[in-house]
Amino acid sequence: MYQSLLRQQLELLKSSNQYRTFTTLSRICGQYPFAKLNGEQPDPVVVWCSNDYLGMSQHPTVREQMHLALETYGAGSGGSRNIGGSYELYERLEASLADWHDKEAALVFPTGFGSNDATLQCLLRQIPDCVVISDALNHASIVNGIRATPNERQVFRHNDVEHLAQILSRYPIGQPKLVVFESIYSMDGDIAPIADIVEVAKRFNALTYLDEVHAVGMYGARGAGIAAELDLVDKIDKIDIIQGTMAKAIGVIGGYIASTRVIVDAVRSFATGFIFTTSLPPAVTAGCLASVEHLKSSDDERQKLQINTALLRERLKQHDIPVMPCSQTHVLPVLVGDAERCKVAALRLLHTHGVYLQPINYPSVPVGTERFRVNATPNHSQAQIENLAVCLRETFDHFAIPLASKTFTSEVA
Ligand SMILES: Cc1ncc(COP(=O)(O)O)c(C=O)c1O
Repeated sequence: MYQSLLRQQLELLKSSNQYRTFTTLSRICGQYPFAKLNGEQPDPVVVWCSNDYLGMSQHPTVREQMHLALETYGAGSGGSRNIGGSYELYERLEASLADWHDKEAALVFPTGFGSNDATLQCLLRQIPDCVVISDALNHASIVNGIRATPNERQVFRHNDVEHLAQILSRYPIGQPKLVVFESIYSMDGDIAPIADIVEVAKRFNALTYLDEVHAVGMYGARGAGIAAELDLVDKIDKIDIIQGTMAKAIGVIGGYIASTRVIVDAVRSFATGFIFTTSLPPAVTAGCLASVEHLKSSDDERQKLQINTALLRERLKQHDIPVMPCSQTHVLPVLVGDAERCKVAALRLLHTHGVYLQPINYPSVPVGTERFRVNATPNHSQAQIENLAVCLRETFDHFAIPLASKTFTSEVA
């Protein structure tokens, strides 16, 4: 019975074009963004949709520090933070993250997903009667954390500050409220009006929680994210909790929050998703620390990312590729608008052109807005960028996918 129930669910998923298949790609150390398809094909493919946004997963210093920690401490951490899993490197990493975000303290989790899920659950359970108000496009990890609690929840329209203010105004000023949003939304590449959201939240006496997962490492003078980039120094104080990941631009794995000592201590003390899990291995912690420290002082990767992103944007525009105008960042969403065509176009790009782009379908994006999520990194060459634009155009023409001039009435950004 159980097998057939689950098989039915899988069939349903397949018939709606939402069934996910994995592409087996083995990245080649030292040759980023090249990867071997299925580990066997002689010619590597070029990866264009990795969250290793700055290529830090292959950075020599990061690898060196990981090797060193592995040989010094061994493979695993041996326990949860409370039972033997808190080693010196952890303290240094948390101090480094707190300093990065100009906060009193930071707390590291095994994943970014876990840090959102555990922290939001914890705050909502520990603050009596706290209403949570969440942006409509917040990530699944945020939604998961919120839904796991019985607290009253409200959703404000994406980046709509007026709507947020309307919702907040319905509650007494003394009632606890938590406003949760992201700085960069990874499917559209747009940026939240952080200053306005924080201003409204504070006017109504709400706590603010900002997910900077797709920004840390890449924006701001020391790479501390969009809030830092926008020079919201006086506002950063008012962003009560900053959440980030070390799995994307940092190039390793692990999530974290940075906040006041009291908030971090409360999450450390009450969040079940933090307490009852094994801490990160020493080599991973060492890699994260090396990467964060490097990105605090080196602007090189950020500058190259900006240059390559601008070039890619320009070349895609030249070839009439429909980059969605909402994009303001390194994430360039290329609209296909149909799940089936997105799938066949991805296969052609991969097998004919040696280009890896993963189709992005519902539920990650609304039906009818299926897309490729393209991002250049500092490691992509100019020739690779030129070639991508040509290959995309050939593929769009081959499947008669509408080009930018047909898709958007106003000019593509
Ligand atoms: C906005 C956002 N928050 C959190 C996460 C989870 O981070 P991690 O991949 O480190 O678990 C993601 C992952 O893609 C994300 O996009």
